[in-house]
Amino acid sequence: MKKIIGNFKMNKTNSEIKEYIMNFVSKVDKSRAEIILCLPSTALSTAKYLLDGSGIAIGAENLCDEEGGKNTGEVSGEMLKDCGAEYVIIGHSERRVKYRENNRSINKKIKIALKNRIKVIFCIGESLAEKNLMKTAEVLKTQLEDALKGLYENELENIVIAYEPVWAIGTGKIPMNKDIEDAVKTIRKVIADDFSNKAAEKIEVVYGGSVDNKNCGSISKIKSINGLLVGGACLDPINFCQLIRDTKA
Ligand code: 13P
Repeated sequence: MKKIIGNFKMNKTNSEIKEYIMNFVSKVDKSRAEIILCLPSTALSTAKYLLDGSGIAIGAENLCDEEGGKNTGEVSGEMLKDCGAEYVIIGHSERRVKYRENNRSINKKIKIALKNRIKVIFCIGESLAEKNLMKTAEVLKTQLEDALKGLYENELENIVIAYEPVWAIGTGKIPMNKDIEDAVKTIRKVIADDFSNKAAEKIEVVYGGSVDNKNCGSISKIKSINGLLVGGACLDPINFCQLIRDTKA
């Protein structure tokens, strides 16, 4: 079954998410996909309460790269876990660009998430300039190798890699299916070289970037991807339910 992950980004108040979830749960066809809602931290406790026993998983969108204490304004892995987060997005390009996250801090965040038994949705992808210079494979390799440094092979079971070309996020532009396939091939080759062929086959890779109701059917036909990471198109519950229905299982 494919994973469909909604990334709410910095959208919706706690009350709005409460309303969203009540609407969504009553309409969504859960047999179509494994659904994960990645929400702002302010809404996690509410979501934990409302989604308990629903089979829909909750994710956070970020965590601190340190474990406790003197980090005013940050949220720790332990706090997220306690609020119901089963997943956390790490390395999103919006955080890499706007909050200057680098592969070193991303590596620390991944280790902290795993230590707290939170699965990681690890985002990688090339910028438009890098794509134009045909550097996609090189960029993906560096992002993967730097962020996965020091991990054991069995820990990859708790990591989902999200291939999100930066130029495709929020732009309405998407790569050709062939380009997504090539990127996924690169990702699996890096995992095979650095871990094992078995790990490369098993690791889950999802695609994100301008996924919507019109293109989800075609993108989800790509055999080598294990799901979709959806931004803007997840924000309306009815729309998102339809997208889940239209995604190829
Ligand atoms: P959009 O689907 O809005 O392009 O966002 C993608 C994304 O950043 C998901 O993490």
